[in-house]
Amino acid sequence: MQVYIADDGLRAADLTAELMIKAYHDGARTFGLATGQTMVPVYQALVDRIRAQGLDVSRDDLQTFNLDEYVGLPATHPGSFRQFMQEHLFSPLHLPSERCHLLNGMAADLNQECAHYDELLERRGLDIQLLGIGTNGHIGYNEPGTAWESRTHRMRLSQDTIAQNRDQFPGDLPEEALTMGIWSILQAKAILVVAIGASKAEAVAKAICGPLDVNLPASALQNHPDVTYLLDAKAAERLLADQSAKEDRMVIRRV
Ligand code: GLP
Repeated sequence: MQVYIADDGLRAADLTAELMIKAYHDGARTFGLATGQTMVPVYQALVDRIRAQGLDVSRDDLQTFNLDEYVGLPATHPGSFRQFMQEHLFSPLHLPSERCHLLNGMAADLNQECAHYDELLERRGLDIQLLGIGTNGHIGYNEPGTAWESRTHRMRLSQDTIAQNRDQFPGDLPEEALTMGIWSILQAKAILVVAIGASKAEAVAKAICGPLDVNLPASALQNHPDVTYLLDAKAAERLLADQSAKEDRMVIRRV
């Protein structure tokens, strides 16, 4: 496991973008993507770097798969993850929508929608998965208690998550989502986890140094052979306090 600690969130976001573009130059073409406020500077840095390098990713065989989407929201709703991605990444990069996969939370049969997404994911395979982390340690919308064998599934959001996300949501926050499962996430060849801010410090420390715990979904990432955490100094504070016991498990770099 690699852990990069940057002085601030913008630097952590920019380094994330740099690693994603490096993966692209090394042949990665299937990217698992995340939403949330942490990803806003990450996508801004990605767009800036792609433009600066004159890369035209719209004409490539690039495909993206998002982690999750709310149940019952039309794709055009300003709070949908489709809209978030459109605004922050797909439109600026002119990515054609047929290559940008998101779950449809309005599907008539949500189980079938999840099964179909799993088929697409398994056929294509994720080269790299980008993740944020919830303050309760959720990844995607896999809340505490989610089975680690889970494929894409429907999830009722925890009260913590609802409280955390309600204020930023335009309208009534849906209380259910479809999400890639923990097993699905762990199939990616490489995983980048970005965490910015003191509110994430405890979840980050537990995810990296704590015991494997079904109530801390991000701890499942300890079972993956290629995980990189990108943190700002505040998100790293608790980890640095705990780190002595697990130095053999990770390489820490200050950037
Ligand atoms: C959201 C998303 C997650 C995200 C996490 C953190 O609700 N479903 O994929 O990583 O919670 O969000 P933020 O970056 O806004 O703190």
